[in-house]
Amino acid sequence: MSYIIDDNLLDEIRDRADIVDLISGYVNLKKSGSNYLGLCPFHNEKTPSFSVSKSKGIFKCFGCGAGGDQITFIMKRENLGFREAVKFLADKYGIELRENKNTYDREIIDKKKRAYEANKEAALHYLKNLSSTKSAYDYLKNRQIDSATINAYGIGYAKDSWDDLLNYMKKKGYKEEELEEFNLVVKSKRGSYIDRFRNRIMFPIIDTNKRVIGFGGRNLDKSLPKYINTKDTIIFNKGKHLYNLNIIAKESDREKIILVEGYMDVISLYKSGINYSAASLGTSLTIDQADLIKRYGKQVYICYDSDKAGIAATVRAIDILISENIYPKIVTLTDGLDPDDYIKKYGKLSFELELKNALTYLDYKILKIKENYNLESSEGLSGFTSDVAEILSRVKNPIERDIYSDKVSKEYGVSRNAIISYINILNRNDINKKKRIDSIKRSPKPKIFKPVDKRKKVENYLIGFALESEYNFNYISKNLESYEFLNTNSRIIFEELAHYYLINNTKPDKFLKNLIQMDLVDENYINDIKNIDLKASDFDLVKEELINTIKIDNLENRRMRILKEIESLENLKSADKSDKLNYLIEELEEINKQIQSL
Ligand code: UTP
Ligand code: MN
Repeated sequence: MSYIIDDNLLDEIRDRADIVDLISGYVNLKKSGSNYLGLCPFHNEKTPSFSVSKSKGIFKCFGCGAGGDQITFIMKRENLGFREAVKFLADKYGIELRENKNTYDREIIDKKKRAYEANKEAALHYLKNLSSTKSAYDYLKNRQIDSATINAYGIGYAKDSWDDLLNYMKKKGYKEEELEEFNLVVKSKRGSYIDRFRNRIMFPIIDTNKRVIGFGGRNLDKSLPKYINTKDTIIFNKGKHLYNLNIIAKESDREKIILVEGYMDVISLYKSGINYSAASLGTSLTIDQADLIKRYGKQVYICYDSDKAGIAATVRAIDILISENIYPKIVTLTDGLDPDDYIKKYGKLSFELELKNALTYLDYKILKIKENYNLESSEGLSGFTSDVAEILSRVKNPIERDIYSDKVSKEYGVSRNAIISYINILNRNDINKKKRIDSIKRSPKPKIFKPVDKRKKVENYLIGFALESEYNFNYISKNLESYEFLNTNSRIIFEELAHYYLINNTKPDKFLKNLIQMDLVDENYINDIKNIDLKASDFDLVKEELINTIKIDNLENRRMRILKEIESLENLKSADKSDKLNYLIEELEEINKQIQSL
C-alpha cells in the first residue's frame, strides 16, 4: 500500500519522535554539556564520539561521520529505505498514515509500462518478420545495410497485411483499444481495427533507457507518404526525441554530434563507423531537441540534404540552435546528396574531410544572404551590408565581430566602416534596452528572495543548483544534510543525488525521470524546479545566502516549537516543571546563539 509522505508528516515525526528517546533505545547515551554522548552504533569504537543534540534533533558521529535526524538514524540502523523508515517511525509513535488515494498517477505509470511493453513486443515481431520476408531483407541489402547494422538498430518489417500485428498482439493479451492508443493499430473507415504500418521497413525509435517508444516506417512501394511515424502517444512525443539518441547517450561529452535529416542517414553513417549522428523524427528541429543535443556533444554539425528543402531546414535549425546557445557548423554536401548517398559514393574519409571543412554558422549565413543580393548594384550592396551587420550585431564576442567585419569587407568588397557603424547603431538600441532592464532588476537591493514563500523557493533553488552540477551538489552537501530540507521531495532527491554523483558525471536528467516513475518524487515538484530560471554562474553568488536561509529557518522553527512548549509548561502545575523549564530555556539560548552566528 502506498501512503502519503508530505511535509506535515515529517514535521509530526520530528516533533513526536524525541531523538534522544529514540536513539536511547539503541545506544546508551549520557548527557554531556548541551548534547548527549554514546558509543557510535555505526562503527566500532571504545571511546564515545557519537553525539546527539536534542535541540537540533540530530545525531553526529565525529568518528565515522555518520549523521542525520530521526529518519536517517532509523534508515541506517534498521537498514530501511526512506519510505520504510518513515512508516517505521509513524507506527512506533502512533502517527496516522494517510493512504495515497491518488490512483490517477498510478494508472498513468501502469499505462506507460504497458505502452513500453507493447512497443517492444511489436519491434520484436517486426524483426522476426524481416528475417522471414525475402523482399524486405533484399531491399535493405540493396541499400547496403548488413545484418550487424540491422541488429544494432533493430530494423524490422511490417507485413503487407491488414492485421498481422493486430492478431499477434491480441494473442499476447493486448486489447484493440490500447493498441490504438499506442498507435500500433488504427481504426479503419469501416470501424474495424487495422495495422497502422503495412508493407514498410520499420525503424524502432529507442529512448536513452533502451525502451522502444515508437517507430518510423518506410514504404517499399510507391504508396505515400514515404515515411510514416508513430503519432504522439503517452510515451512518445516526436518533438522531444531524436533518432539515435540511445546510441549517442552512451557517452557524454562527445566532441561532435552531426544533425542529419533522416533515419537512413543515421544508419548509413553508423555503418561507416560514425556513431554520433542524430535525426529529428519527421518534424523540423525543435527547441527540446536542441536541448537534448546540447547535453551530449560539444560541437554540433548540421548536415542536412543539400537540396532546396534541406537548405531551408538548415537555416531554421541554425536559429533554433542559437536560441539555445549552440553555435553549429554547417556541412554542405555536393550535388544535392544526403549523408547516406554521400558516404556510399565517397566513403568515410571524404565525409570526415567535409566535417573538417564545415563552415561556421556565420560564414554560412553570410553566404546565404549573399545569394539574395546582386552585389554589383549599389542597392544590392547596401542591402547585403545591412543584413550582414544585423547578424553580426547579435554576436556577443566583440573580437569575433571585428574579425567577421574584416572578413566580409575583404571578401565581398563592402566598406568595413559601413558594417561597423551599422552594427553600432543596432547595438546602441540594444544597450539602452539592456541598461534599463538591468536597473529595474537591480533596485531596490539584489536580495533575491521575498520572505513570502521564501523557504520553499530557497529549497527549490538549492535542489535546482544541485541538479545542475556535481560541483554545486558537493558544495551544498558539505554545508547541509539532507534532513535539513523540509520538503520531502527535496530531501529524497538530495539523498539519491549523493549516490548518483558517486558513479555518474553527467547531468541527472534520466535519474529524475526514474524518480518520478518510481513514484518517489512528484512530477509537479520537478516542474517547479525546472521552471526556475537558473544560471549556473549564479551559484557562487547566492550559495551562502541560500544555505544560511535554510539553517536560520530551521533554527527559527525549532525556536518556535520550544517557545510553544514553554508556554504549555507554564499552564501546568507539576513538581518537576521547573527542571524542564530550565532545560528548555538553556536550549533556547543555545539556538539564539546559533542564529546570531549565521
Ligand atoms: P527524406 O525524404 O530525405 O528521406 O526524408 P531519406 O531519409 O533520405 O530516406 P531514404 O534514403 O529515401 O530512405 C528525411 C526524413 O524526413 C522524415 C523521415 O524522418 C525521413 O527520414 N520524413 C520524410 C517523414 O517523416 N515523412 C516523409 O514522408 C518523408
Ligand atoms: Mn536518403
